[in-house]
Amino acid sequence: MAVITEEPEPQSTLKKPTSPPEVSETQKKNPFIFWFYFTLLVSFITLLTVTLSSLTSSSQDPKSFFLSLSAPLRQHYSRGRIIKVQIAKSQQHTEIFALESGNKPSVTEKVLIVHGLGLSSFSFRKVIDFLGSRGLHGVVFDLPGNGFSDKTMEVVEERGSGVFEKLLDVYGLIKEKGIFWAFDNVIETGQIPYEEIQSHFDRGKNVVKSIALGGEEMGRILGQVISTMGLAPVHLVLHDSSLGMVSNWILENAESVRSVSLVDTSVKPALPLWVLEIPLVREVVLGSTLAFKRLIGLCCSKGISGMDVDAHRVILKGKNGREALVRTLKKLNSSFNVVEWGRSDVIRKLPMQVIWSSDWSKEWSKEGLKVVEALQRGKLVTHSSGRWPQEDAADELAERISHFVSSLPKSVRQVDEESIPEQIQKIVDETKENMNVNHQHHHHHHHHHHGHSHGHTADYMNAYGLGPGWGS
Ligand SMILES: *[C@@H]1O[C@H](CO)[C@@H](O)[C@H](O)[C@H]1NC(C)=O
Repeated sequence: MAVITEEPEPQSTLKKPTSPPEVSETQKKNPFIFWFYFTLLVSFITLLTVTLSSLTSSSQDPKSFFLSLSAPLRQHYSRGRIIKVQIAKSQQHTEIFALESGNKPSVTEKVLIVHGLGLSSFSFRKVIDFLGSRGLHGVVFDLPGNGFSDKTMEVVEERGSGVFEKLLDVYGLIKEKGIFWAFDNVIETGQIPYEEIQSHFDRGKNVVKSIALGGEEMGRILGQVISTMGLAPVHLVLHDSSLGMVSNWILENAESVRSVSLVDTSVKPALPLWVLEIPLVREVVLGSTLAFKRLIGLCCSKGISGMDVDAHRVILKGKNGREALVRTLKKLNSSFNVVEWGRSDVIRKLPMQVIWSSDWSKEWSKEGLKVVEALQRGKLVTHSSGRWPQEDAADELAERISHFVSSLPKSVRQVDEESIPEQIQKIVDETKENMNVNHQHHHHHHHHHHGHSHGHTADYMNAYGLGPGWGS
């Protein structure tokens, strides 16, 4: 908190209400002195904190990120691909991680899984493989804020005008330009570059914020994933809290949807994400495999293995995912009503099935019956697992999905504009596969030149406090 104790100095020079933008002739000396001390002070603080933080830094570059992953996560990451989407207009691209089953372009039936909040593609990797082995093209992607997808985005904000905000601002500028930038200027021109500092203030400020997905953002993402991967018309599989997030998109884009399977859906996610808001509790839950496993056993799945639990925990907490989850949780549509949704003409025309846990709890089974009744779709199709059946009943879940998909008439795919990109995609894929084979010879996927990183590197790095946000 050196920043606060050092503050009196610039404040005393600020007593006259000289707002820096209007530098009149008589005031010319004042701003100079002000900026001089100001820059000096901030440079000093910058030097101090940069030095300090370099000792404890946790860099987020791709290399150390990849090395920090445990073996199952590393394998998962190397099997997927990155898709760029735009969450909002006038937004920079957000990177989304997607996993798909092996036999893609030739397969006509495309199944897209949308996971619930607090989960990720990792959880569905086995389902994707089973779908592939049943002759379907299965795809699952990490929602932004979850899994390996981006969890933050840059937004442009106006700059604050308080002294403290300016202090932080100049701090950022000096950090960006180098600590001696201001002094070099003084030596070269005899002046503090306050004009440059001023113009820096006039520009907007790029702030990095945790992603918070609302229904609108979610719909935009879903649409882009479907069109980028050429999945339409798609069989949607909606798990857990994802139904409320994409319900409106389905209403508006029913022509791109071939069928819908609801898997243990609910408005609130099965994983009680609100515990991530409580200080201390969240540290315990995210910090200990045992506590996290206990929580998942209570809420979601009894059959999940310890190694998978730990991968979940690491993936959930990595890159400050906690904040993104809590913010998205607040944006969930708590008034979503499956009865009302199911009553609309568009939804009534869509082939739909409800896949539900048979013996998780009495209340949960009742919940399933309510959904079936609301949608007026025959009977509940059950599975023998909990609210996260993808974990320990992946084959059952895939079987239910493929049985339903194959009971419908074959999808007619558009073969117009999409045929060319798909041809190119095929070539790209083949090249990639060849490269993968080569890489595997070196026991590695992307980072073969940083060898010796199998298995224990992550632990090793964490033991020395070097692991980035992804460590244990
Ligand atoms: C929330 O759910 C209600 C009821 O199903 C629906 O009418 C409304 O459009 C939804 N709002 C959003 C933002 O999705």
